[in-house]
Amino acid sequence: MKILVVGSGGREHALAWRMARGGHAVHAAPGNPGIAAVATCHDVGVGDLDGQVALAVRLGVDLVVVGPEAPLVAGLADRLRAAGVPTFGPGADGARLEGSKIFSKELFARHGIPTSAFRVCGSIAEADRAIDELGADVVVKADGLAAGKGVVVCATVDEARAAARDMLEQKRFGAAGDRLVIEQKIVGREVSVLALTDGARLEVLAAAEDHKTIFDGDRGPNTGGMGTVSPSWVSDAALARIRAEILEPTVRGLAAEGIDYRGVLYAGVMIDRAGTPWTLEYNCRFGDPETQPVMMRLSGDLGAVLAGAAVGAMPEGALAWDPRAAVCVVLASAGYPEAPRTGDAIGGLDGPDAIDEGDDLVVFHAGTARKGGRLVTAGGRVLGVTALGDGVAGARARAYGAVERIRFDGMQYRRDLGLRGA
Ligand code: GLY
Repeated sequence: MKILVVGSGGREHALAWRMARGGHAVHAAPGNPGIAAVATCHDVGVGDLDGQVALAVRLGVDLVVVGPEAPLVAGLADRLRAAGVPTFGPGADGARLEGSKIFSKELFARHGIPTSAFRVCGSIAEADRAIDELGADVVVKADGLAAGKGVVVCATVDEARAAARDMLEQKRFGAAGDRLVIEQKIVGREVSVLALTDGARLEVLAAAEDHKTIFDGDRGPNTGGMGTVSPSWVSDAALARIRAEILEPTVRGLAAEGIDYRGVLYAGVMIDRAGTPWTLEYNCRFGDPETQPVMMRLSGDLGAVLAGAAVGAMPEGALAWDPRAAVCVVLASAGYPEAPRTGDAIGGLDGPDAIDEGDDLVVFHAGTARKGGRLVTAGGRVLGVTALGDGVAGARARAYGAVERIRFDGMQYRRDLGLRGA
């Protein structure tokens, strides 16, 4: 098949790499220097919906896979389908699962999907009342997309009130914070569970654990994700509960509400001390950096599965998992996450230095660019060094071995990936 991947990050590199390995002719828009090694890149931005549709039609692709959430929320999948292009990714109605925290929490409530108690607030008075009712241990969430920053986990009433004021009065996230969800905090350990769906069937992918803060030991500010380990610490029994109690009711609920959801259901799940899974939120696309280790472990024809899902006929049981573990170490730029610096030369990936250990070690590009032939940093998260190995310890050793061969000024990464254990 000829497949167009929309996006330019590490997630899209991993998807393009896996589908190219499966023998498909992969294109990407806009792509990045790493993606260019496995796909033909086109200079069309993620936000240029007209340009993406025109490109897909001009190339005559058999499938478009949309990576990021913003174009999905903006209706890119609807427009591609209207132009006759099979597309893996929900329409704007389904993408509200990620685009509106209020929509998703209310959907959970309507369909008995386990989630914490919550209130919807559009004013300071409503927010203060919600905090009075729910107590100090709450999470304040901007309703709309806020580049992953619109969630504030609070420990005191003052913090919760300040977060609500920051969003509602100071407009910290613009219109995305015009309305809020304030919900009770669930204490436990988080896991990302990604599933593919064609609107009726579900194919649950291998689970991965993200590491969200910039520093070791879960300290420091939150980031888009500093690394991932797959398989996660979650037992098969817990995963079976997540499927039965969260993912399957979501697919049924969406269908019952007339939403034909063909894409990824990415559930952020908190497992509490009693082992009960709670739905924190959904994303409507593959996770980043969850996708990187998951694609390394995946065998089977991903392109065929996504193409099937795109037309409502996803083959089930067509994917298999490498029993080895995979670890992805994100290398971030100086100043990330507050003010990432760009333009630093990256050493260790070009010419005689190049890391080449076949399919057991792949350096996925995220924020990179070519400037005068040199590879330079071009974003906050720069690279995702991803390795397979025997057990988490083996994967970790191989990934960190490669990290030591890569250098750029101000390079930041966590050193504790894979040490957490079960
Ligand atoms: N790993 C976090 C995300 O993809 O949103």
